[in-house]
Amino acid sequence: MNQDEMKQAVAQAALKYVEKDTIIGVGTGSTANFFIDALSALKGEIKGAVASSVATQKRLEGYGIKVFDLNQVDEISVYIDGADEADGGLNLIKGGGGALTREKIVAAVAEKFVCIADESKLVEVMGAFALPVEVIPMAVNYVKRQIENDIGGRAILRDFTTDNGNKILDIQGLKITDAKAVESQINSIVGVVTNGLFANRGADILLLGGSDGVKIIKP
Ligand code: A5P
Repeated sequence: MNQDEMKQAVAQAALKYVEKDTIIGVGTGSTANFFIDALSALKGEIKGAVASSVATQKRLEGYGIKVFDLNQVDEISVYIDGADEADGGLNLIKGGGGALTREKIVAAVAEKFVCIADESKLVEVMGAFALPVEVIPMAVNYVKRQIENDIGGRAILRDFTTDNGNKILDIQGLKITDAKAVESQINSIVGVVTNGLFANRGADILLLGGSDGVKIIKP
């Protein structure tokens, strides 16, 4: 099985967590795209979806799946999304695609967060994947200095603008052993919108696709 086939297998397995007649949250990225493709078969069974990015909204609508603005809904039964890295405690790094803030908001509202990933994403210690931080544009240099002085690593400006009109700093060279603390510390820097650590609200279930099938990992 190649990596795309593993992503497709976890995307298919995630359909089991889709509850009938509810609104679900849908993430962003290549694994989430496979999930949307699979979800199209069930589109008559859900009320609709909240999208974590403009790209996801377009893909959902392309299949005729109704997309709700988050302010129109009170409850999301489940949020299904990929990750760039996950550890055994189901802490995640997300935001490789730059959609981290909307992803974090939808995950916060959802009753359950099911993360779907191929086995290459599971690591002992997170940080080999540069940690994305969404920053208000005027604060980029200030936030970069604060991160490099107080947190460590190197904060590199990505040539990218988020769906919210902000910039992304990618922090290279971290070894994240206390993900909750690092998430909170970075978020307390003025000018940071949020960072890509999903630890204070990590995943509830990780579906991990490998060559021998899909494993279900719970914390
Ligand atoms: C998007 O901003 C990210 O958080 C994605 O969920 C993450 O990068 C996983 O993407 P892939 O499924 O493409 O690996």
